[in-house]
Amino acid sequence: MAKVITIAQQKGGAGKTTVAAHIAVALSQKGNRVAVVDIDPQGSLSHWHSIREEKFGEGYTGLTFTSLSGWRVGSEVARLRRSQDYIIIDSPPHTETEARTAIRAADLILIPVQPSPTDLWATKATLDLAKAEKVPVRVLLNRVNTNSRLAQTIANELPELAESMLGNRVLFAASLMEGRCATEVEPSSQAAKEVKNLVKELLALVRDADEEEDEADAPIEKSEKSSKKQLENA
Ligand SMILES: Nc1ncnc2c1ncn2[C@@H]1O[C@H](COP(=O)(O)OP(=O)(O)OP(=O)(O)O)[C@@H](O)[C@H]1O
Ligand SMILES: [Mg+2]
Repeated sequence: MAKVITIAQQKGGAGKTTVAAHIAVALSQKGNRVAVVDIDPQGSLSHWHSIREEKFGEGYTGLTFTSLSGWRVGSEVARLRRSQDYIIIDSPPHTETEARTAIRAADLILIPVQPSPTDLWATKATLDLAKAEKVPVRVLLNRVNTNSRLAQTIANELPELAESMLGNRVLFAASLMEGRCATEVEPSSQAAKEVKNLVKELLALVRDADEEEDEADAPIEKSEKSSKKQLENA
């Protein structure tokens, strides 16, 4: 049965789509069957996937892609769970109803937050939704400049903070432009390392304890100490 990770954040532009694509591709590169579900009417992830199809050929993107309206997400996820290992849902900003259905369908919620006051303040609404639905949640600091005091202050304010974080790196955006992700375009880049560490952390959270223990036990890469530690040491 697939594990479902929903990327949610009511604040627009926090990095939901960027994070969803990168997690999905990294999981696929590890040999998993991965479905991506876009319930955002803006269709950014759909756009990315269509560029990907032009590049790799239809049916060869390494992902099963579905775009649908939020109210159908429950039944679609139930269907996909049988054939996939992981399902990644990208949700829209500003819509509580759609986000709620996507949160309800998930095993884990990931909330990207940029180190800005407005992102911080908007995060509570999404955290409350996840808590109301009793779904485990992690907050992901995204687009971080590690030497920023503000990022550290905001990290200290955030509950459920993920150990991993993503830096402010052009490669995250540039790779999406060509229908790919950082781990494909520059596998040894810092951006790719950050994504791999994030995926390692997410897998440890959603996977049954007895599955793939060896990987979960692998040490986190040296440069990828916990997000708070990285910011403190900067
Ligand atoms: N870690 C990062 N480093 C650099 N740029 C980033 C990073 N994460 C996201 N971005 C950029 O920030 C912008 C917003 O990202 P994205 O579209 O993923 O956010 P979103 O939460 O999906 O937005 P929306 O709420 O509109 O759906 C994009 O231009 C994207 O390229
Ligand atoms: Mg988006």
